[in-house]
Amino acid sequence: MSVNFRIIAIDGPAAAGKGTLARALAKHFGFAYLDTGALYRAVGLAVLRAGGDPADTRAAIAAAEALDDSLLDDPALRSEEAGRAASIVAAMPEVRTKLLEFQRKFANEPPGGLPGAVIDGRDIGSVVCPQAEVKIFVTASAETRARRRTDELEERGESADFGAVLADIQARDARDEARSTSPLIKAEDALLLDTSNLDIEGAFRAALDSVNRAQDILDAKDRVESE
Ligand code: DC
Repeated sequence: MSVNFRIIAIDGPAAAGKGTLARALAKHFGFAYLDTGALYRAVGLAVLRAGGDPADTRAAIAAAEALDDSLLDDPALRSEEAGRAASIVAAMPEVRTKLLEFQRKFANEPPGGLPGAVIDGRDIGSVVCPQAEVKIFVTASAETRARRRTDELEERGESADFGAVLADIQARDARDEARSTSPLIKAEDALLLDTSNLDIEGAFRAALDSVNRAQDILDAKDRVESE
């Protein structure tokens, strides 16, 4: 399949289903996949493991500078504790700057010589890769996201209280949206995909539709330019 785009940026709030979608799109197009939330989680977790406080800017910057790639596959990254710590360190401009370089390098030179990258996060279409040819903003109601997160935790055998998960998601949304550096925002040219009433398959088909539409627009632009 020949495509005329190299970067698919997927943004949206916590637990909207970005990761599942991004992975499926990466597989479909043979692109590399980067979960940028894992980078912030790795920084938060490194601070916690060193016995520090994620709100301590100096400790967070040091952890971002020493970021160890191998931590990106650590199952502990998925814990609610790591998510909370990630959301705190993600509000620090110095931490964001440190992680920016890693993300842009991944986008410009996808590992394994792959022809493109699917990158998910909060500010990919707006800040990290504003040049991405395809941008999708994935969202769902806070209740839907809390239900999915609760089910996910239960499936993993962890105890989960819906009310507490919902409160946590709302607090995280507020922090992600209110921070002054790179707040969670839909890029103007991103396509909005609300997955509240879609299952995984439905969300994937809708995302693929969005990508195809973006490809049609790029094709038309190419035709006009070559005329
Ligand atoms: O998507 P996630 O839950 O793994 O993200 C963890 C935290 O990292 C979340 O609170 C927001 C932050 N984050 C960010 O600020 N920018 C990104 N590109 C990705 C994640």
